Amino acid sequence: MAERTAAHPPALSLPWWLQPVATVVILSGFVLYTLWAALQGHGYSAPYLSPFYSPPVTVAGIPISPAWWVLWVPGGFRATCYYYRKAYYRSYFQDPIACSHPEARARYAGETAFPFILNNLHRFFLYGAIVVLAFLWRDTAAAFVFDGRVGAHLGSLLFLINVVLLSGYTFGCHSFRHIVGGNLDCISCARGGRLRHRLWQWVTPVNQHHALWAWASLFSVSIADIYVRLLMTGVIADPRFL
Ligand code: FES
Repeated sequence: MAERTAAHPPALSLPWWLQPVATVVILSGFVLYTLWAALQGHGYSAPYLSPFYSPPVTVAGIPISPAWWVLWVPGGFRATCYYYRKAYYRSYFQDPIACSHPEARARYAGETAFPFILNNLHRFFLYGAIVVLAFLWRDTAAAFVFDGRVGAHLGSLLFLINVVLLSGYTFGCHSFRHIVGGNLDCISCARGGRLRHRLWQWVTPVNQHHALWAWASLFSVSIADIYVRLLMTGVIADPRFL
């Protein structure tokens, strides 16, 4: 009996409300920080362009922060993400708080009525997010070039980590998995079936950890922006590795 107890230590018991409270605090903090960063109107310290400002878009005659032209794409992508939907339905609305609990409302329209019907646009946000991600890879390549020479500073590594995490989040998307092969009943019967099967095999293990990619990339993109702002204001230097 003593051996079994040693082999299986008791699981750590945390209060049930800790997870929803942490979700509300972290997501709300991220949204508030993003709004603040977008209101600053700029986010660049050579060679680093903040991911909140990429691609850099300006429209003549409309003097608003360039971030507003971009952020609605990744913002919409995250807001309509299947994982985040579960997270904020449970944490913000307690609707329902968990699988075994009844609906909090007498009448439940699901995602067939405004505003949650907008969540059905997720796959279109995915297309936009892939375009934005391509620019972020370009910015990451630029983050390794200093006065025309290739090098690696702390900012370069932070940008690389961020774009890898964002790629894992984007290409582990349930909609992306559906597009590459998840929508097929018979992969070998489909045109390009071999390639689609290969893609599906790559995407599936990433998709299985989608929540982890979602949270990790949420932090990494914030850290990348904070790092650029600290450089802009001269609060920190940018240590060089190579
Ligand atoms: S399901 Fe989460 S990004 Fe698509």
